[in-house]
Amino acid sequence: MRIGKILPGCLLLLSLSSCSTMQENKDKVIENKIETLLSKMTLEEKIGQMNQISSLGNIEEMSVAIKKGEIGSILNEIDPVRVNALQRVAVEESRMGIPLLIARDVIHGFKTIFPIPLGQAATFNPAVAEEGARVAAIEASAVGIRWTFAPMIDIARDPRWGRIAEGCGEDTYLTAVMGAAMVKGFQGDSLNDPTAIAACPKHFVGYGAAEGGRDYNSTFIPERRLRNVYLPPFEAAAKAGAATYMTSFNDNDGVPSSGNEFILKQVLRKEWGFDGFVVSDWASIKEMIPHGFAADEKDAAMKAVNAGVDMEMVSYTYMTHLKDLIKEGKVKEDVVNEAVRNILRIKFRLGLFENPYVDEKRQSVMYAPEHLAAAKRAAAESAILLKNNGILPLKETVKTVAVVGPMADAPYEQMGTWVFDGDKAYTQTPLKAIQAQYGDKVNVIYEAGLDFSRDKNTTGIARAAAAAARADVVLAFVGEESILSGEAHCLADLNLQGAQSDLLAALAKTGKPVVTVVMAGRPLTIEKEVNQSAAVFYYFHPGTMGGPAIADLLFGKEVPSGKTPVTFPKMVGQIPVYYSHNNSGRPATRNEILLNDIPVEAGQTSLGCTSFYMDAGFDPLFPFGYGLSYTTFSYSNIKLASGTLKKDDVLKVTFDLENTGKYKGTEVVQLYVQDKVGSVTRPVKELKGFMRVTLQPGEKKSLSFELPVSELAFWNIDMKHVVEPGDFALWVAGDSQSGQEIAFKVGE
Ligand code: BGC
Repeated sequence: MRIGKILPGCLLLLSLSSCSTMQENKDKVIENKIETLLSKMTLEEKIGQMNQISSLGNIEEMSVAIKKGEIGSILNEIDPVRVNALQRVAVEESRMGIPLLIARDVIHGFKTIFPIPLGQAATFNPAVAEEGARVAAIEASAVGIRWTFAPMIDIARDPRWGRIAEGCGEDTYLTAVMGAAMVKGFQGDSLNDPTAIAACPKHFVGYGAAEGGRDYNSTFIPERRLRNVYLPPFEAAAKAGAATYMTSFNDNDGVPSSGNEFILKQVLRKEWGFDGFVVSDWASIKEMIPHGFAADEKDAAMKAVNAGVDMEMVSYTYMTHLKDLIKEGKVKEDVVNEAVRNILRIKFRLGLFENPYVDEKRQSVMYAPEHLAAAKRAAAESAILLKNNGILPLKETVKTVAVVGPMADAPYEQMGTWVFDGDKAYTQTPLKAIQAQYGDKVNVIYEAGLDFSRDKNTTGIARAAAAAARADVVLAFVGEESILSGEAHCLADLNLQGAQSDLLAALAKTGKPVVTVVMAGRPLTIEKEVNQSAAVFYYFHPGTMGGPAIADLLFGKEVPSGKTPVTFPKMVGQIPVYYSHNNSGRPATRNEILLNDIPVEAGQTSLGCTSFYMDAGFDPLFPFGYGLSYTTFSYSNIKLASGTLKKDDVLKVTFDLENTGKYKGTEVVQLYVQDKVGSVTRPVKELKGFMRVTLQPGEKKSLSFELPVSELAFWNIDMKHVVEPGDFALWVAGDSQSGQEIAFKVGE
């Protein structure tokens, strides 16, 4: 992969083969430098490289440790002057002169905040993810940060889990594509560009499957499911050149990831050939003690280092115990040498030895106009139109709009979780944007109704309803404050918080059309509120430029194209609910009799005995991949170039897509496949491709997907990654629930 990265420059002068030779030579040069350094390092200095601290605040205190070679990396330093001061101690005053690696959680922007990753996933546009990560890298590297703990590519199928906000949702393929794009964006064309920051796909692995959606909880993912569902995004990140990986907090089937040799050595190193380094999560090595996997800190250090965790984040068990463990023969010095090689390799690739210092004058890149423009584009593409009775886009007949709700003017809250550095003073809210961009066209009345999303004080609701009564259309901004999602911020109840539901009911009662805009960190259970609204937009926290983007969407300057990256349940009790499930032996028919229609004293087996809920039925509120436009699209003429294929063939499906409505619009076309019969049961549908297509009103285009049959491979009964011959089905559609089934066969 790294060859690919240097290709463009090389191509000007050199052939492909000489280019890769150059890369190999470069690697050899780095490997030689690593060995030279390693041969001169004391054991203490080696262990120091494996130690990451969170900034202690006090430069003098940190300098003492850096000078002794006791720190390999620091997280949470964000002042370029301080970063340079600390770096100067490492480079000029420590014996080996090894530069520090400065790290920070730059998850969806540094200063300019992009939509949360779940929102970026809703764009189904890897270019958005790549650009977002690039902007984040340019801004973060300007203060000396050269390593981010992102992308988070945990598959999450439980919206109770607060960290669903940080990832790309429920789907393996979508997450793999978006995650790889983020890796490319963070790392740029070459790691040693001063604006490149090393990526760190996390959390390796299975963290999103926490039982009950409660953070840090145990997971029970068998190897086949791990390989088919949870590992592929991490493999895609490795192929995209990710420099580092982070282990996860969870224990999977009894083994905490920071002590899991199988995932770190067998899968990551042996099968994927990863040669960067692995960092623990925050104190996750020490936390193997409460897990009941390690007896004490020394045992924890031994288990983690032997499993393949190269660097320890903040819990100091390596610093305290590795030396003794080596003396006692419980850890081989070679294990430490290998960890240090991995860490130094990335420091060399980042160019830190040649250019350890950050240019303190680069601060003008923060909130650069082109960064704000990119954030606005991302926000606009991330908005999902869930319902529209025709009220949107707002027509010229609308003279007065009532802007209502606790999220209408909440600059901090709309940035979402994992924002440490974005300044709310730069956030453009929907209220401000509507006033600034459309205030000359409509009269804007603002009445929040509630002060914040959890507000239970209903006294303002009457004022909001009165404002609504004076308007032609109500724009109601509800959702979740930023603190309600993210790490450890899980919820057992996914209804709208506080009195927001009462607010929406009161607005609906005025008889005025209510356009509800939800801004949240996860899918919420909003069936009732959807029914009460004339139109609904769903915005996963959209970031700095969320306001201008939604204003343009509401007033029709932009046309929505976002699609749900995760299934929306009707009720919490349906969770886990995801499109790519396996079938039971008694699949729901959708003709089931639901609770209200069951006769009193009904016979015990009278309901059909299928797999459904008597109260919620079978279907979710909104399926995966769903989202409306202001225009409509029609699919026709779907044809396979050949209905019988061999394992090394490429499947080609052609189809016509027509814009049958009145607006220019973009459709996210999705390709789904089902393997009908396998040596193990297979999902009812799996996303295998997608494309964004923009069409003028009335325009029709002939399009195609090409899918190598090899991509139908899965980990089968023998735990082999193979394509099993047999019958398959395929759909080309605008979401995971619609489309016409087309059959094809794969032979031997
Ligand atoms: C989180 C990680 C994060 C780390 C450093 C941990 O609590 O789980 O995702 O990167 O802290 O801030």
